[in-house]
Amino acid sequence: MNFQQAQIRAAYLRAEIQSHNIHYYVDNNPIITDFEFDLLMQELEGIEKKFPELTTLDSPTVKVGNDLSGELSQVVHKYPMMSLSNTYSTDELNDFFQRVNKNIVDEQVEYVCELKFDGTAIGLTYLEGVLQRAVTRGDGESGDDVTANVQTIQTIPIRLSGDNIPKQFEIRGEIFMPYHAFERLNNEREAIGEQPFANPRNGAAGSIKLLDSTEVARRGLDSFFYHLLGHDLPFDTHYQSLVHAKRWGFPVSEFYKKCRTPEEVFAYIKYWEDARKSLPYATDGVVIKVNSFSLQQRLGITSKSPRWAVAYKFKAEQAVTTLFSVDFQVGRTGAITPVANLEPILLAGTMVKRASLHNADQMELLDIRLNDTKKE
Ligand code: IVH
Repeated sequence: MNFQQAQIRAAYLRAEIQSHNIHYYVDNNPIITDFEFDLLMQELEGIEKKFPELTTLDSPTVKVGNDLSGELSQVVHKYPMMSLSNTYSTDELNDFFQRVNKNIVDEQVEYVCELKFDGTAIGLTYLEGVLQRAVTRGDGESGDDVTANVQTIQTIPIRLSGDNIPKQFEIRGEIFMPYHAFERLNNEREAIGEQPFANPRNGAAGSIKLLDSTEVARRGLDSFFYHLLGHDLPFDTHYQSLVHAKRWGFPVSEFYKKCRTPEEVFAYIKYWEDARKSLPYATDGVVIKVNSFSLQQRLGITSKSPRWAVAYKFKAEQAVTTLFSVDFQVGRTGAITPVANLEPILLAGTMVKRASLHNADQMELLDIRLNDTKKE
C-alpha cells in the first residue's frame, strides 16, 4: 500500500469507526459485532504505524469512544477513564506478556485475572465513606453525572463500612443488566410497540442515562467493581484492593484469581470460555492486570489504555435459526425499523425470538428471505 492509498483507506476507516461508535455508544444499537469493529480498528492502527504522519489528533486509535448524552450535566474525571487494549488470540496475549517482561526485568510479575463484564463503565467517588457522585465514561476526559440513577441500584453502597477506608477515593466498575431483567424489559417494550434492546449491554447503557430515576429503579440493574484509584491507598496490589473493596461493601465478583505465570492465565481463560455460559449475566472476555501498583506505574499508560492490563475477548456466540417473518416497526420519532421474527433460540443466556435488521440497506446486504436459516 503506498502513501496515497493509505491516506484514502485511513480516512475511510475513520469515518466507518466513527459511525459505528455512534451506533454503539449513542444509539445503543450496534450493527456490527465487537470483533468486526476491532478488525477495523486494528487495520487503522496498522496504517498509522506504517505512516505515522497519517495519525490525526482525533483519530479513534488515540481517543476512546464517546457516550456523552448531551442531556445530563457533565463532570470532568479526576483520573482519565481509560479503555483496554483487546486481544483475541494466545499469540496476541503472549505479545502482551513479552512487552511486560521487556520492561520489568528485575522482578517476577504477578497477574490478576478477572471476568470482563459486558455492561457500561461507571466511576463512583466517595468522601469519608459516603457516595458523592457517579459518572459515566463519556469521552474519557469527562462523563455524564448519573448519581441519582446509580443510587437506585440496590447493590451499590451509599455508605461504606469497615476499616482502613481512605478519606477520598474513586472506584470504577461496570453496571450491567442481568439476563432475567433484560428479558423482562424487552417483553415489556415489545408489548407497548417499542424496539427491544439488542443485548443486555445496550439495555444497561440505555437505562443508566434515563432522566427518570424511578424508571431506572425498575430496570433491575446490577454492578461489579474492579478498579480503585486514590492517593494513600492502604495496600499496594490490585488483589488487595479487591479484597478491601469487598469488605467495605462493594459488589466485587468472586471470580478473580492471582496468576503467577502466563500458563495459569491461559488456564483461567480456558475454564471461563465455557463456564461463563452458565452465569446469569453477560461477560465478553477476561481482563488480565499486573498485580503490583508500583509495577503498574513503571509500565505506564498510552493515550487510551494502560500498558499493565489487557482484555482477552471471547468470540461472540453464534447460533442458527429460522426467519419466520419481518415486521416494520414505527418508532416514536417516526423512523421505521425492520424487525425479524425468528424461531426462538437460546443464545448467550437469553431466548432470542426477534432481532433488529436495522434498515433496508442492511436487509439487502444480508439478502434476507423468509424461512432462511442463517447465523444470528
Ligand atoms: S479494568 C484501566 N476490569 O471493559 C483499567 N475493565 O474494554 C480499566 N470492563 O472500560 C478497566 N470488566 O468498562 C476492567 N474486570 C474488568 C472489566 C472491565 C469490564 C470494561 C470497562 C472497561 C472496558 C474496556
